[in-house]
Amino acid sequence: MPQDAPARARLCAAKFVAHNIPLAPGLCTRPGEPLIGESPRTKAIHDALRLFVPGGAGGKTAVDLGCLEGGLTYELWRAGLRVVGVEAREDNLERCLLVRDWFDAAGAMEFVRSDVREFRPGAAFDVVLCSGLLYHLDDPAGYIGELGRLAAPGGLLYLDTHVAPEDADLPECNFRAALSPWKTRLHEGLAIRYREYAEDITKPESSVGNPVSLWMDIASHVELLQRAGFSRVFEMHGWFGAGEMDLKRRFARHYWACIKQA
Ligand SMILES: C[S@@+](CC[C@H](N)C(=O)[O-])C[C@H]1O[C@@H](n2cnc3c(N)ncnc32)[C@H](O)[C@@H]1O
Repeated sequence: MPQDAPARARLCAAKFVAHNIPLAPGLCTRPGEPLIGESPRTKAIHDALRLFVPGGAGGKTAVDLGCLEGGLTYELWRAGLRVVGVEAREDNLERCLLVRDWFDAAGAMEFVRSDVREFRPGAAFDVVLCSGLLYHLDDPAGYIGELGRLAAPGGLLYLDTHVAPEDADLPECNFRAALSPWKTRLHEGLAIRYREYAEDITKPESSVGNPVSLWMDIASHVELLQRAGFSRVFEMHGWFGAGEMDLKRRFARHYWACIKQA
């Protein structure tokens, strides 16, 4: 039985670092924390599925890139998608598998241990979730091209990411101490504007293999998304309550629903 006492004991002993996943009445992965489904960013993802997946998400395919301990993978599965979570860190992946087995969801919620830069699935996905990952990479510009290959024609890319704060916003940005001055590099003829970010790679949520990652500016993201085939890019506003723009400035965070040209 997936939800027997040993499975419960394994889940209770596992140290979940970020995602509070409801397991059963009175049982969750991070007691005392808000449930992942109640978070505004999760609600924005569910609304994007409703708004931007023609015919509904049920039975379609999804990938959750850099899935950590599977909380958003679980949410995509809950929305009716057949989902693959991709995660490079083995200990993170072990917690994902505990969640999958608890819900007896093998086949509908799968996990692959891989660096996302090496992940080569057999087919493109109807929904690509890239949340909290792009800004951990050393070549985010190149990886946006890969996101274009991972998304099926007409598919949805949901991109939840940090962007480099403009100079006027830098003093308010919570991450300013770890961000470099502006730099530029050429990517396939396009001048990318970015700041480097010093990563603490000991953390389970951090980058894999690169101690310095790149946070690009908004314009670079939008231009690269369009070049990758995302012909429509919608900025998600309205889920974060009063003072939303101040919050987003402090966290230098953006949420985009991007539709791949059919
Ligand atoms: C900030 S967490 C985001 C987790 C989750 N996607 C979310 O939004 O809550 C970043 C995750 O990406 C993983 N990660 C970072 N770089 C990766 C890479 N190159 N390949 C695979 N996973 C990576 C980390 O191990 C971590 O689990």
